Amino acid sequence: MSKNDVSTTSMMADYLDRIGAGKVLLDRSPLSFDWTPPTLVGRDSELSELASMFLGIDNEGVSGRAVIMGHVGTGKTVLTKRFGEDLSRAVDGKRKVVLSHVNCRNHPSTSQVLQQIALSLDSRHPERGFSSGEIIQSVRRNIRSRGIHLLLVLDEVDVLIRRDSNDLIYKLLRIDEGQEGQGSLSLVMVSQDSHLLGQLEPAIISRLGESNVLMLEPYSENSLIGIAKQRYEASCRNGSVGEETLEKIGRFSAETGDARLAIELLEAAVRRAEKEGRGEVLPEDVLPSTVRAASIEPSQVDHLGEHQKLVLLGICRRLRKEEEISSGDARKLYEIICEEFEVKAKSYTTFWKYLKTLEKEGLVETRSSNSTVGRGRTQYITMTNMIPAEIGSRIEKEFSRR
Ligand SMILES: Nc1ncnc2c1ncn2[C@@H]1O[C@H](COP(=O)(O)OP(=O)(O)OP(=O)(O)O)[C@@H](O)[C@H]1O
Ligand SMILES: [Mg+2]
Repeated sequence: MSKNDVSTTSMMADYLDRIGAGKVLLDRSPLSFDWTPPTLVGRDSELSELASMFLGIDNEGVSGRAVIMGHVGTGKTVLTKRFGEDLSRAVDGKRKVVLSHVNCRNHPSTSQVLQQIALSLDSRHPERGFSSGEIIQSVRRNIRSRGIHLLLVLDEVDVLIRRDSNDLIYKLLRIDEGQEGQGSLSLVMVSQDSHLLGQLEPAIISRLGESNVLMLEPYSENSLIGIAKQRYEASCRNGSVGEETLEKIGRFSAETGDARLAIELLEAAVRRAEKEGRGEVLPEDVLPSTVRAASIEPSQVDHLGEHQKLVLLGICRRLRKEEEISSGDARKLYEIICEEFEVKAKSYTTFWKYLKTLEKEGLVETRSSNSTVGRGRTQYITMTNMIPAEIGSRIEKEFSRR
């Protein structure tokens, strides 16, 4: 090794130091979306409701069915994982439950789904060469000969249905029909799409039982704070993330009620603190997600009306420097901008209407202040889906060309 190589190596080691020696982070894995927490935050009643759909499941011959629906990040997947593990432990000694979780987005065809089911029962299941009917038969044989119960979760099942219709679901629900024995398989179907039931045939719906539907509501601010807290406690040094920081994460993610956003904001904040070599994650480390920023295209502001753009520009200018702006200040900035571009400002009522339009389009978020001073209509405006500087300069460019 030449002298040069040695110095390169030690430089590399220096800059890689941070990887191991986290001042905040002890274990990164709980910050991953795939981590299944030991307990779920704020989903006790949903778990009980799900359990009620599996009444008597500890007895041979009994099976359960459930349909779980809810928006992105409402915890559908993690709920089925937590439930599956808890259930199989609860009936341990009475019944052996084998879990199979198939994500139909990753395995969208009937034969791919069946392949995944067969693999969860037998990791040596050959990859091809069997028809769907044959695989179902072999799944049934496997279950019977081992005396097990299969808890099958078809996650994002709408993808399978859209592609290949209901056929497989129908067959799976009838796996025991015309056979000796019962209760081979419990089925849980998961979908973001609340029209899922409408896509199923009446014969399937009657087999599912209409009461076996669980709707997951978006998370409240408190639950999101709890979810961020749980992840922090499992991954970071004690005391490294304060209440205020967690509250800010909760506030930001409450706009959508998406747990994934709360985790993402926490992870990014931890990373920022680590990068600066600090041992404490501060509220300032929590910033609107730039990943999400990409989810609303800046071009989405192009179709707005002239004055809607000017209202938005005022908001953007302030949000470049501050986290939120009051509606009163937004009004003042709008008036200043109207002077700047030599147009007449609209009335206060019209301004307010524009603000609501911007909110409806998902460009800004508002929250009411706790105090009701003056007109009592003060709201605080934030922007979590886009980067204020980027949107502001887009609008400025357009007006300066005029
Ligand atoms: N109640 C909860 N307690 C703790 N963590 C949670 C809770 N709900 C969700 N999470 C976590 O938030 C993330 C998103 O949850 P999950 O993947 O279950 O959402 P989903 O509803 O399946 O979303 P999608 O519709 O995109 O599939 C996961 O990392 C999950 O562990
Ligand atoms: Mg999911």
